[in-house]
Amino acid sequence: MISIIVAASDNDIIGRSNKIPWNLPRDFKNFKTLTTGHTCIMGRKTFESIVARIGGPLPKRKNVIITRQVDYKAPGCVVVNSWDEAMDVIKGEDVFVSGGEAIYAMALPHADRLILTRVHTQSDGDVRLPIIDFSNWRLIHEEQWLKDKKNEYDVIYQIYERRH
Ligand SMILES: NC(=O)c1ccc[n+]([C@@H]2O[C@H](COP(=O)([O-])OP(=O)(O)OC[C@H]3O[C@@H](n4cnc5c(N)ncnc54)[C@H](OP(=O)(O)O)[C@@H]3O)[C@@H](O)[C@H]2O)c1
Repeated sequence: MISIIVAASDNDIIGRSNKIPWNLPRDFKNFKTLTTGHTCIMGRKTFESIVARIGGPLPKRKNVIITRQVDYKAPGCVVVNSWDEAMDVIKGEDVFVSGGEAIYAMALPHADRLILTRVHTQSDGDVRLPIIDFSNWRLIHEEQWLKDKKNEYDVIYQIYERRH
C-alpha cells in the first residue's frame, strides 16, 4: 500500500523555508508511530530538512530519497533518481510518502491512502499541498485534536482511501 502522509494548513501550505511552519508534537508523534518499521519516501529537500532537525535520517525506517543528482550521498539511506526507481526498490512493500510538494505531486496518482492532518490556520509558506480531487477519495477516519500547551493549533486528522 502507498500512503501519502501530510500536514497542511487550511490554505494548503505545507512548508516554509524548508521547514514545517508549525509546532505540533502530537502530529510528529503520530507520524513516528505510523511510519516506524516501514519505508518513507521523500524528496531530497525534505530529507535535508529532517537531517537539519534531528541530525540524521528518520530512525528505524528505510529512508528512500528521490533526487535528480546521480552522485547524491545519503549514508544509511537508499538514493533513487525517479519515482519508478523508488517503486523498484520497495518491491511492493507498504510505504509512506513523506513529502515535500514535488514528491506528493508525483505520488498522488499512485497512492492508495491519504493521511491528512488539516492544521486550522492560514499559514505563510512557499510549498503547497498538490490539488487533490476529494471526489476520488473516501473518508474512512476522522478525529479532532484540540490545541494545548504544546500543540499550537487545532487540527482535524483524517484518513482517506482511494475510491476504485
Ligand atoms: N507539512 C508536511 O507534512 C510536510 C512533509 C514533508 C515536507 N514538508 C515541507 O516541504 C518542503 C520541501 O518540499 P519541496 O517540494 O521543496 O522539496 P522535496 O519535494 O522534499 O524535494 C524536492 C527535490 O526532489 C527531487 N525531485 C523532485 N522531482 C524529481 C523528479 N521528477 N525526479 C527526480 N528527483 C526529483 C529534486 O532533488 P534535487 O534538487 O536533489 O535533484 C528536488 O529538488 C519543506 O518546507 C518541508 O518542511 C512538509
